[in-house]
Amino acid sequence: MEKRQELYAGKAKSVYHTDDPDRLILEFRDDTSAFDGERMESLARKGMVNNKFNAFIMGKLQEAGIPTHFDGLLSDTECVVKKLDMLPVECVVRNIAAGSLCRRLGVEEGQVLTPSTFELFLKNDAQHDPMINESLAETFGWATPEQLKEMKALTYKVNDVLKALFEEGGMLLVDYKLEFGVFKGQIVLGDEFSPDGCRLWDAKTREKLDKDRFRQGLGGVIEAYEEVGRRIGISFD
Ligand code: C5P
Repeated sequence: MEKRQELYAGKAKSVYHTDDPDRLILEFRDDTSAFDGERMESLARKGMVNNKFNAFIMGKLQEAGIPTHFDGLLSDTECVVKKLDMLPVECVVRNIAAGSLCRRLGVEEGQVLTPSTFELFLKNDAQHDPMINESLAETFGWATPEQLKEMKALTYKVNDVLKALFEEGGMLLVDYKLEFGVFKGQIVLGDEFSPDGCRLWDAKTREKLDKDRFRQGLGGVIEAYEEVGRRIGISFD
């Protein structure tokens, strides 16, 4: 597969065209951002760790029957994906209260959420990814009601698969964000799943093992990502 010109550079990943019009190359960079890109840092090994982490998780989700854009690893920091028409909507499921939910509602961090919640956010940095709902998504054409229904069902299905996976590694899947796109008419999971886009706590100590370590200046960010990976059977060598 031939890597061609850059299509898009996000805050942590770059996307490249290939010689196949239906395939793209995702490159995971060492860049890390928080607070809508206000804080940027380069963390050694992060691109490699997140690329391998994402490959492992996408494989698990595919095995469970969830359609994903992931085709295969290309190098330590690159993978090949299907070219989706991305929907500008972020789907968030929460099993335990943390982050923006606590700020928004004044609820205590750590409260178990039963049933798990589902939220939609508009992918728009300039507007700071505002929370939206199905009515707004339909009216403004960000996603159709059918697409929203499918995204919600798939996001919860991901929860069943990954909650169990992380539980086996002694961790709690607190929350996560997914993005979807359309490939040949089908809703397909896109973007990435890594500790950059989810919250994972040690089940016993509740130690944070995800991007909150960066957001909150706790240090040991990539060491924590690697620890999570090791606990679920990923090798980063
Ligand atoms: O900030 P908030 O609490 O709403 O985030 C919920 C989950 O979604 C967290 O795991 C966070 O890492 C993830 N998220 C993300 N990208 C965003 C917003 C949230 O990965 N733009």
